Amino acid sequence: MTSGRHFLQIPGPTNVPERVLRAMDRPVPDHRGPEMPSLVAEIRAGLRGIFKSEQAEPVIFPGSGTGAWEASLVNTLSPGERVLTFQNGHFARLYAEAARQLGMKVDEVKLRWGDAVTQEDVEGNLMPEHRAVLIVHNETSTGVTTDVGAVRRGIDRSGHDPLLLVDVVSSLGSIDFRMDEWRVDVALTGTQKGLMLPPGGAILCVGPRALAAAETSRTPRYFYDWRPVIRDMQQGFFPYTPATLLLFGLREALRMLFEEGLEQVLARHSRLAQGTREAVRAWRLSLLASDVARASNSLTAVVVDEVDSGTVVKVAAERLNLALGVGLGQLRGHVFRIGHLGSLNELEVLATLAGTELALLYSGQRIELGVGVAAAQRFFAGVTADLQRPSARESVASREGVG
Ligand SMILES: Cc1ncc(COP(=O)(O)O)c(C=O)c1O
Repeated sequence: MTSGRHFLQIPGPTNVPERVLRAMDRPVPDHRGPEMPSLVAEIRAGLRGIFKSEQAEPVIFPGSGTGAWEASLVNTLSPGERVLTFQNGHFARLYAEAARQLGMKVDEVKLRWGDAVTQEDVEGNLMPEHRAVLIVHNETSTGVTTDVGAVRRGIDRSGHDPLLLVDVVSSLGSIDFRMDEWRVDVALTGTQKGLMLPPGGAILCVGPRALAAAETSRTPRYFYDWRPVIRDMQQGFFPYTPATLLLFGLREALRMLFEEGLEQVLARHSRLAQGTREAVRAWRLSLLASDVARASNSLTAVVVDEVDSGTVVKVAAERLNLALGVGLGQLRGHVFRIGHLGSLNELEVLATLAGTELALLYSGQRIELGVGVAAAQRFFAGVTADLQRPSARESVASREGVG
């Protein structure tokens, strides 16, 4: 391994800040001991703040985003019930597949991978038999964010009343999400993205209608039954051995997000994403997102035309110790992804863009070195090209009166 820092710029897991690492670097406590109630109470309150919900119940399982999908489905739905899904990427496809494997009847609307789900998509496809609508807020394979407020309007205008289950795995803590305002019934994530923690935790926030649905759902469940977890978490404990050290990390990560201010955190992600998109434009490469207005603030999916995107990712890892995201599913070979979420600043994004330029060049993609970095720098600095000092050659030429 080369010296210097490993640049982990995949769209999750993300970099774990020192403060969070230090909070977890402690002896393992008794998970039924006196430290737990205040820890769990602070986490419950903090999660409600991040999900923007006054009353929903936070639930934490050891697991990952995939486990959170399963928990969202087995608690609210019964085998044979119909759900509406929209396949606009790899993770939307897999969430639908989880529902299918668990016995639900899935009506899957196929969209272009790169599209967001629109109000019209929802309104035009929702039927009274649909018990739930499954949405991936930020499709991590394509770098596209769906407007969940528009999804809610689509449901309302249809006149039907399904449960709304939303995957916020790569948006929570980096892209605006409003559980109560959009009347989301279940929102779910993992610990390893915007929450800046190592992998290992599945987190859900469960609204009143989903809590009621869990009382009548007939899907067999044991570990992912959220009822005992909610009951025990309300008292500051868990019905099984939780990932205790991850909880200490989570408390610290939540404190960090609130110290910076959630709205500032979201604005920072927006700025870093915009700088990255400026770089892509300067490279004369394209975003996979069909509509730049829906391009994600937590990652950028870049289409390459002259080389295999897997080569770019491989070269970045081998030569630069820079981890970029590969193209997933049908995007394999065509797309690579730059993660810009979690604990990250402008300088780190610039370094990532510089590394990406080199990796593109080393892979054989025609690219002018420096143009992407400069475009992002100009965006971060808020200056246009005209304001810059002329290059050495230009200033000599103008001094000597040659033009
Ligand atoms: C949007 C989305 N949903 C679900 C998952 C699956 O999460 P995990 O890999 O933690 O199981 C991911 C993983 O990247 C994701 O990006």
